Amino acid sequence: MKSYNIALIKGDGIGPEIIDEAVKVLDAVAACENIEFNYQEALMGGCAYDVTGDPLPQETIDISLSSNAVLFGAIGGQKWDTLPREKRPESGLLRFRKELGVFANLRPANVYDELVNASSLKPEIVKGVDLMVVRELIGGIYFGEPKGRDENKGWNTMVYTRPEIERIAHVAFKIAMERSKKVCSVDKANVLDVSQLWREVVEEVAKEYPEVELSHMYVDNAAMQLIRDPKQFDVILTGNIFGDILSDEASMLSGSIGLLPSASVGSSIGVYEPIHGSAPDIAGQGIANPIATIASASMMLRFALGENRAADRIDYGIKQALAEGYRTKDIAGFDAKEVCSTSEMGSIIANFAAKCKL
Ligand code: NAD
Ligand code: IPM
Ligand code: MN
Repeated sequence: MKSYNIALIKGDGIGPEIIDEAVKVLDAVAACENIEFNYQEALMGGCAYDVTGDPLPQETIDISLSSNAVLFGAIGGQKWDTLPREKRPESGLLRFRKELGVFANLRPANVYDELVNASSLKPEIVKGVDLMVVRELIGGIYFGEPKGRDENKGWNTMVYTRPEIERIAHVAFKIAMERSKKVCSVDKANVLDVSQLWREVVEEVAKEYPEVELSHMYVDNAAMQLIRDPKQFDVILTGNIFGDILSDEASMLSGSIGLLPSASVGSSIGVYEPIHGSAPDIAGQGIANPIATIASASMMLRFALGENRAADRIDYGIKQALAEGYRTKDIAGFDAKEVCSTSEMGSIIANFAAKCKL
């Protein structure tokens, strides 16, 4: 029996609720595939600050680095919003990504046929959407120096170096080679020097992938095109802040931000996490959609552990639950057979995943 060590970082708000459902589904597929998961929980975010005074205790980094992969929920909440910047949950997450060197955040946005009516856009616009946002995750304006503020002024700096752009561009082109061989690089090169360099370096890297069709788009236009005609996109390559914003926007093609998973990868251990936050407005009510986190667990099985059969089971479980009309509140729309709770949705997906005939 193969055995894997998984670091579980539940975090704040709905984090514990959604991670518990992903664990339920992972255990269901493990039993079918003769594999075993040893989970080790670690604190990050507001809950870590409350216990240790630090939103990212060293122990969390150590546990993560000695695991095969990290499954992460979400952090943050109003309770911690007035703390000094370095004590805030979000600073813990940024430091965590930097410590683990996860420079590439892969955020797929697919539209399930069953949910075309859940989107706020017309079904014919969203049906068949299948795109991948490749977001640079440990550079850009989130990390650039100088940054700071005083009473009357606040400042951040958007910086990218040639090697940082090269490595994320390679990730995007490699992914495009496995898909429909199209990369759209999104920047603001008409205004920002950093984007001008970004564009030049992406052009250079593209020469190594002659089969891939490269286009460039300004971020303002890209935000509009994503809504006007999302099917024109395959791989969207972009920097940290643009990728953050565009992927939340892309989630509404699918119908809910509670559906979109992600993989944050780099040189060592990968972090698998939904793209959404801790949703304090619905925390503790048992109504959060666990699918983004369950789908992140599937990405973990596929990319970090090479357990493709188990991942296929999870993907089938999600599709089947939707096909049979099960919906959490956020995607209930008009055609829900049954509106279910977070934990009911987890159990339904786990059951279908276990029954999947591979
Ligand atoms: P959010 O993503 O937490 O929530 C935005 C909206 O989407 C809310 O109405 C929420 O109820 C809804 N939503 C999110 N996830 C959902 C799910 N699984 N099912 C159903 N509905 C869902 O963003 P926000 O409200 O801007 O931020 C809340 C907190 O989360 C902040 O502290 C923020 O910094 C933090 N945050 C953390 C992460 C992360 O941990 N990766 C990501 C984004 C935001
Ligand atoms: C995300 C979040 C984070 C980000 C915040 C909480 C630091 O919005 O994971 O998308 O901006 O990267
Ligand atoms: Mn975000």
